[in-house]
Amino acid sequence: MSQPNNIIFCLDIGNELKEFFHQNSFSKIAVIVDDNTKSHCYPLVQSAIPKHVLLEIKSGEEQKNLRTCEQIWNGLTENAFDRKSLVVNIGGGVIGDMGGFCAATYKRGIAFINIPTTLLAQVDASIGGKLGIDFQNFKNHIGVFQNPLKVFLDAAFFSTLNPAELRSGYAEVIKHCLIRDGEKFEEIVQTPYADLDLFGLTKHSVEIKSKVVLEDPKEQGLRKILNFGHTIGHAIESFYLENEDKKLLHGEAIAIGMICEAFLSTKKCTLSNKELFRIVKYILQIYASKPIAEEDFGGIISLTRQDKKNEGDQIKCSLLNNIGDCGFDIEINHEDIKSSMEYFNTQTAC
Ligand SMILES: NC(=O)c1ccc[n+]([C@@H]2O[C@H](COP(=O)([O-])OP(=O)(O)OC[C@H]3O[C@@H](n4cnc5c(N)ncnc54)[C@H](O)[C@@H]3O)[C@@H](O)[C@H]2O)c1
Ligand SMILES: [Zn+2]
Repeated sequence: MSQPNNIIFCLDIGNELKEFFHQNSFSKIAVIVDDNTKSHCYPLVQSAIPKHVLLEIKSGEEQKNLRTCEQIWNGLTENAFDRKSLVVNIGGGVIGDMGGFCAATYKRGIAFINIPTTLLAQVDASIGGKLGIDFQNFKNHIGVFQNPLKVFLDAAFFSTLNPAELRSGYAEVIKHCLIRDGEKFEEIVQTPYADLDLFGLTKHSVEIKSKVVLEDPKEQGLRKILNFGHTIGHAIESFYLENEDKKLLHGEAIAIGMICEAFLSTKKCTLSNKELFRIVKYILQIYASKPIAEEDFGGIISLTRQDKKNEGDQIKCSLLNNIGDCGFDIEINHEDIKSSMEYFNTQTAC
């Protein structure tokens, strides 16, 4: 499989960036970082980026909102950025989504490049052109589609990432195997987590996601399979977003969502119980999950109604026909979601 030509797998990101800036010129450059990527990632690339303005925001999903966008737009405006300028996003999915959104809307759109520094951002968030921010407790509620000029991937960033963040990103790797590559799923299941070749798996995920996105860039059909685990996972993530004790990382929520939706796949599609068992066992081996409190079910279910895949009042879900093959636009109802969370709870209690 070939990579889209805007994605560059770097052995030495500094050299690749120098080459890029040698070939492309911009009137001004802004580099967006958060407090963590400023200290851990920016030093790896700082000298390779020509004269630039550094815009620092606070880290965390709770910053992915209009207020922070205003801060970024202010930074661009105060520094007189014009349409020929460039934004460089250095960070995880939050910076990629929000920095890209700010660039894509500033003066009706200026160019941006992504330097994704988390596993999640490398295998998922920085591919496919979805940009945006959260709004009123709803994830990625406001946004646009726009591709970065280039995406520079380098495994060097993984070394400073905390293990929970790495595991969170790995959920999307599992998802890509489940929806498109059953053989790869077998391979990862049989490899101890600590021995996985994460950069190799990044390439695999990028290939799968890019191919799907190329076929259906605006998510009219096939692209919806990338949402496997996300109808319920996103609702769980949103529901606990402001709860310090129960807050989950994106991938941790998606891991739960994949278990729930694999369960629904046995009811609504052709996934076998044997396959369900294999998926659940593997996911729970990597993500130590606690049961979902029954009193939270109602709130989580009502959040699934905001899912962008829905049409009217119907909840549409992407479910597995078998491991490696995913369908989309499968209708589920509140009762189905409730029963899938009950199923999840029985599994975490085992
Ligand atoms: N656009 C898409 O298609 C898409 C797909 C999946 C997820 N997302 C979005 O991505 C976001 C989650 O991304 P994320 O998990 O990368 O979160 P994140 O951007 O919040 O990064 C996680 C944490 O790691 C820190 N960090 C980043 N790189 C680091 C490094 N190399 N070393 C040390 N610390 C580092 C960050 O400061 C942050 O605290 C969500 O908002 C989600 O909605 C978007
Ligand atoms: Zn995701």
